[in-house]
Amino acid sequence: MGTTYRVAVVPGDGTGPEVTAQAERVLDVAAELGGFALDKQEFGFGGDYYLKTGETLPDSAIDELRQFQAILLGAIGHPDVKPGILEKGILLKARFELDQYVNLRPVKLYPGVATPLKDKGPEHVDFVVVRENTEGLYCGAGGFHKKGTPDEVAVQESINTRKGVERCLRFAFEYCQRRNQANKLTLCGKTNVLTFAFDLWERTFNEIGGDYPGVERDYAHVDATCMWMVKNPEWFDVIVTDNMFGDIITDLGAMIQGGMGIAAGGNINPAGVSMFEPIGGSAPKYTGQNIINPLAAICAGSMLLDHLGETQWATRIEDAVKWVTAEKLQSLAAGRMGYSTSEVGDLVIQHLRDHAG
Ligand code: IPM
Ligand code: MN
Repeated sequence: MGTTYRVAVVPGDGTGPEVTAQAERVLDVAAELGGFALDKQEFGFGGDYYLKTGETLPDSAIDELRQFQAILLGAIGHPDVKPGILEKGILLKARFELDQYVNLRPVKLYPGVATPLKDKGPEHVDFVVVRENTEGLYCGAGGFHKKGTPDEVAVQESINTRKGVERCLRFAFEYCQRRNQANKLTLCGKTNVLTFAFDLWERTFNEIGGDYPGVERDYAHVDATCMWMVKNPEWFDVIVTDNMFGDIITDLGAMIQGGMGIAAGGNINPAGVSMFEPIGGSAPKYTGQNIINPLAAICAGSMLLDHLGETQWATRIEDAVKWVTAEKLQSLAAGRMGYSTSEVGDLVIQHLRDHAG
């Protein structure tokens, strides 16, 4: 018997539990075939739990989550909870407290998936965004002055530390090396206007770049990055950027890879516990209908296995997903796949079993 991995599962809200259930089934089959074990424990945090208890993610839960090797997250978001509470109280709290300082977002167009980009196919859309995940505008630094008066001032500051910037950049350089495709790392910033924050980013990028001689250094302003992602996505291999720009360009990335039905990401602490999630949200209107697309959650599961070192099974799940998009699904959209949520899980599992040799 191989290794046993302890995995915390937070199915969350809306359609989160449905897609997480399929990701878990796929992971269980991969473990069975691969001769490793997943010791999973479920946590009920999310909007419903908050409405019942008034708690988002208590400190005791953070301590418990530290005991796991990875976390699989469904979706957090509830129509009856004011925006900001669950985001800050659960998602951002986990990222900050567990020091998941990289948000890793592959932008990969799978075969058979429709992209809004004209004349682009899987050979053009295949890059990874390394987004800083614990600093920048997300720190919550700033405040109001004379709130509610005509003289009101609101300040929101972007915090960039040398340590935070450097560790994110080093992760990106190392990831780019390991990926070993074009070996090109693009720093996405705004050095022409944000002359303090991105000066630090650019200086650090160039200072440490010498430690990675095989990686070509490239730079693009964030606005230009958005243009090239649409016009020439094939120019990108790995993009590294700050928290806010990363948030924005990864939604653009999700759209060019076929939308929220397929986009997955990881919140990574290389020395701690990392958390993997479909990035599409809880899609509450589809809850309980068995029509939501589980592939993004299944791809998050594949990223989780890759992170744990079960790279072969991560790849096999990805291959199964590619087969499903290429040969089976009519569309990635909820209700239009030609299959139910659980049938899509069945298809991925069928391919895994058929190619287990
Ligand atoms: C994401 C989300 C979050 C973010 C929200 C829900 C706080 O948009 O993971 O990209 O802004 O980081
Ligand atoms: Mn986002």
